[in-house]
Amino acid sequence: MTNNSNYKRVTVKSLVDMKAQGEKISMLTAYDYTMAKIVDGAGIDVILVGDSASNVMAGHETTLPITLDQMIYHASSVVRAINRALVVVDLPFGTYQSDSKEALRSAIRIMKESGGHAVKLEGGKEIKDSIKKILNAGIPVMGHLGLTPQSIYKFGTYTVRAKEEEEAKKLIEDAKMLERLGCFSIVLEKIPAKLAKEVAQAVQVPVIGIGAGNDVDGQVLVLHDMIGMTNEFNPRFLRRYMNLFDSMTEAIGKYISDVKSSDFPNANEQY
Ligand code: KIV
Repeated sequence: MTNNSNYKRVTVKSLVDMKAQGEKISMLTAYDYTMAKIVDGAGIDVILVGDSASNVMAGHETTLPITLDQMIYHASSVVRAINRALVVVDLPFGTYQSDSKEALRSAIRIMKESGGHAVKLEGGKEIKDSIKKILNAGIPVMGHLGLTPQSIYKFGTYTVRAKEEEEAKKLIEDAKMLERLGCFSIVLEKIPAKLAKEVAQAVQVPVIGIGAGNDVDGQVLVLHDMIGMTNEFNPRFLRRYMNLFDSMTEAIGKYISDVKSSDFPNANEQY
């Protein structure tokens, strides 16, 4: 077991220390109390209350519809479950892009109403003012570059980003800018491994990858994908550690047949 036990509670500073000491950072999503309790108890370093809740919990096609109130509901359920992990909460689409004051108001609502420890925003220099304003209020910010699902209608597809030199150059500049502004960490989603390595070497803050290869400072996956609860999403970067979809289908099927056959409940399962 390579779980780290040096940190009783993971803070943004712990993550920076982990990078400095060459210890990889583990991060998973969670959106509710029960799952978060399992994930935290297993020793994860960071729980991301991702706006992927829009897809995973609500069945939307994109992350765009989820609201700030809904994110606060998910995040507060997660925060009630945790003893150790750092809880990072996504600012949802439309709550930070229009102006920096609105961005700060949104981040303050997340921190005040959910008890989360940090916020994550998608984008680089376009949202510089929003990031600055939030950081100035003492709220830790995690950046997110590469494939940024909130911009799906601009990209048109979920394919690998920054394969061309111009986009790769901008991504490196954005990562350096996020570090200069004071972001404590950066997520890189679905970019070439070689570029992700370059970014991780170019900044001191930890770079956490999803579909960005192994030469970064940590990894993040969507929990429901890695435990095989979802079975329709099969990108190359996803490793499934179990097949909960099939196990649950089998268990529910058995329950249905036990009810239909009057096998359940038996004499020991009644009062
Ligand atoms: O919303 C999310 O789950 C994310 C991860 C994919 C990084 O942003």
